Amino acid sequence: MKIEVLKNYDAVMERATEIVAAQVREKPNTVLGLPTGSTPIGLYNGLIREYEAGKLDFYNVTTFNLDEYYPIDPRNSQSYRYFMNDHLFHHVNIPMTSTHVPNGNTSDPEAACREYEAAMKAAGGVDLQVLGVGRNGHIGFNEPAEELVADTHLTGLTADTIDANSRFFASADEVPKQAVTMGMASILRAKQILILICGEDKKEALKQLKKGNINTQWPVTLLNLHDDVIVLCDEAANA
Ligand code: F6R
Repeated sequence: MKIEVLKNYDAVMERATEIVAAQVREKPNTVLGLPTGSTPIGLYNGLIREYEAGKLDFYNVTTFNLDEYYPIDPRNSQSYRYFMNDHLFHHVNIPMTSTHVPNGNTSDPEAACREYEAAMKAAGGVDLQVLGVGRNGHIGFNEPAEELVADTHLTGLTADTIDANSRFFASADEVPKQAVTMGMASILRAKQILILICGEDKKEALKQLKKGNINTQWPVTLLNLHDDVIVLCDEAANA
């Protein structure tokens, strides 16, 4: 695991943009794994700037998002599909058919999860998986638990995550109580992982990751099973 501590959020996003842009330049048909949340917004803005400056081409890129609420209509402005269109996909030249977000709008989520895993495999696997982390150490919607489900699956949200995500909804009651998420095994199959950890409230999650042990009560620590992980954090998270 390589850890880079940068001064603040902006510096982390600048460095993350450099790493993702370099990956796409080196391998134009890169398969990216992508998160939503507040953290990656600076990265997506950075990638849009590179694209607008003519320095980056997304035409052959494929993306797989980590997670999606369930049930949710993709046209709902709180859906992760809407978020990705709004913050990245609609601003670059990626064909929409090359963008994948787990299906939160199906009556058969189990089948949709199997199809998602098969689509990742058919695309040749994820080359670079970008991640954020919850303050409780969750990755995607893999919440702290005694057991974690390995592959893409339907899961319940913890009270802590409902509380944290309620900032995007009118009230906590409106936050969907379930989600479809890649599992930790799906995530760990990526060839390289880039995790972005910013802000004081992520301090404990970073500390747990840095211990180097595996603890399913801190899903982020499972990244210690992967041998090509870059951690970009700011000074506040590393304090
Ligand atoms: C979202 C996701 C989540 C977030 C986490 C941190 O796709 O994977 O695990 O990364 O909840 O969210 P922010 O960045 O809003 O602090």
